[in-house]
Amino acid sequence: MKIRFRLNGRWIETEAQPFQRALDLLRDTLDVISVKEGCGEGECGACSILYNGKQVLSCLLPAVQLDGAEVWTAEGLLATPLLRAFEEEDALQCGFCTPGFVVAAYAYVLNGGSEDAAEIRRALAGNLCRCTGYTHILRAVQRAVKEHHASSSEKRG
Ligand code: FES
Ligand code: FES
Repeated sequence: MKIRFRLNGRWIETEAQPFQRALDLLRDTLDVISVKEGCGEGECGACSILYNGKQVLSCLLPAVQLDGAEVWTAEGLLATPLLRAFEEEDALQCGFCTPGFVVAAYAYVLNGGSEDAAEIRRALAGNLCRCTGYTHILRAVQRAVKEHHASSSEKRG
């Protein structure tokens, strides 16, 4: 079936197969390689995408459901204050888990998340990394929330 959706700010048209996962369509057809397959069962968060403003696991999402959606992946978030915060706080981890964390954190900030550490940990609980204590990621998200609030109140004037 032909589908049309917005990917990282650009409308695209492509073919989706009936039993194809969004994860496979993004990686194999569209070369969006920041979206990783970890567990393939909805447990690790590595395949996270921003789907109509929410973090969604693309390994569990049928590709046909991308039709008409607004989708962002880590590739499209490179120039955002969130990524700057990740860099400034040395929150970049391995290439496998980082894109999923970036998407989860972006969804959190976008949806009005607070600087509260426990709340941030809860929001990122679906993203697994076995290697660190998440401290740098936590600080990066707190920084991004602060900047987001500052820029929203500037806009409000
Ligand atoms: S690959 Fe989708 S949650 Fe692990
Ligand atoms: S799994 Fe990526 S740094 Fe731990």
